[in-house]
Amino acid sequence: MPRFEGEVLEVREYGQGRLFRVAVDSLAAQPGQFAHLLCGEDSPRTLRRPFSIMDCSDGSLGLLVKVVGEGTAWLAGRRVGDRLDMLAPLGRGFNLELYERPLLVAGGTGLAPLHFLAKRLEAAKGHSPRLLWGLSCGEDFGAMPAWLERDIDLSIATCDGSAGMEGTVIDLLGSELARADYDGVFACGPEAMLDALGPLIRKHALPCQVSVEQRMACGIGVCFGCAVKKSGEEQSYLRVCLEGPVFDYSDLAWGGDGPGGA
Ligand SMILES: Cc1cc2nc3c(=O)[nH]c(=O)nc-3n(C[C@H](O)[C@H](O)[C@H](O)COP(=O)(O)OP(=O)(O)OC[C@H]3O[C@@H](n4cnc5c(N)ncnc54)[C@H](O)[C@@H]3O)c2cc1C
Ligand code: FES
Repeated sequence: MPRFEGEVLEVREYGQGRLFRVAVDSLAAQPGQFAHLLCGEDSPRTLRRPFSIMDCSDGSLGLLVKVVGEGTAWLAGRRVGDRLDMLAPLGRGFNLELYERPLLVAGGTGLAPLHFLAKRLEAAKGHSPRLLWGLSCGEDFGAMPAWLERDIDLSIATCDGSAGMEGTVIDLLGSELARADYDGVFACGPEAMLDALGPLIRKHALPCQVSVEQRMACGIGVCFGCAVKKSGEEQSYLRVCLEGPVFDYSDLAWGGDGPGGA
């Protein structure tokens, strides 16, 4: 199992978000894979927390962390020179080969794997795919949207119109699909956002790969704590940490039942 301690090389604060750069030795990660971090002092009772890898190159990896509770608050307190105990890379990432004209859709910290994906697609195809990013009310990533707009082809939706379009990223997706021709969607974000994606991708008959931010325990396929319901089959589940976190949208049961409802 790929367990190591990475030295924190850089920490940047963006509102509720922290961008960490961590030293890693010869790590090859794919967009959509995640790192499982020990967030607290090492003890048998400390659970690891999963974070998508935001980039991985030149002997370091990037992580975007939004503080929501005890573990992420501990992480937000780490400084340059501290060491982070992690398992990485874990899980199954996005398949970059399936679409010629992809559209990327992110909500909140779902930005992390899609930013990594956008940069890899740009390197492979020579141009940056469009990325739609939605921030919910009260979600604040400081100057990060302005920084990202200089780096990738980004459109933003905020609930109060404080940046980009006023509305949800699903509203933004509706306008974008009416305006331009895409042949596939990559998405990551909160469950309600992913749920709301369904009618639009079905209406436009678009295939979709989705990364699911389910709560986890072991992170390596042992405990079934991250199981989500499979579509079309009663009592059939998939482990987000092992079979995912990236799935074909149509493989998961959506609506009130899931995928978090396992
Ligand atoms: C594959 C994957 C990739 C992820 N990538 C990122 C990332 O790039 N950046 C990032 O900031 N977060 C990411 N997350 C979510 C992150 O793992 C959780 O926010 C973190 O584990 C919360 O730990 P905590 O101890 O701070 O919160 P806790 O104290 O455990 O919980 C605080 C609050 O957050 C809620 N919560 C906790 N975990 C989740 C979750 N997974 N989904 C929804 N609500 C949750 C709890 O219900 C509670 O209300 C990812 C999750 C997964 C599964
Ligand atoms: S978190 Fe234990 S099986 Fe996925």
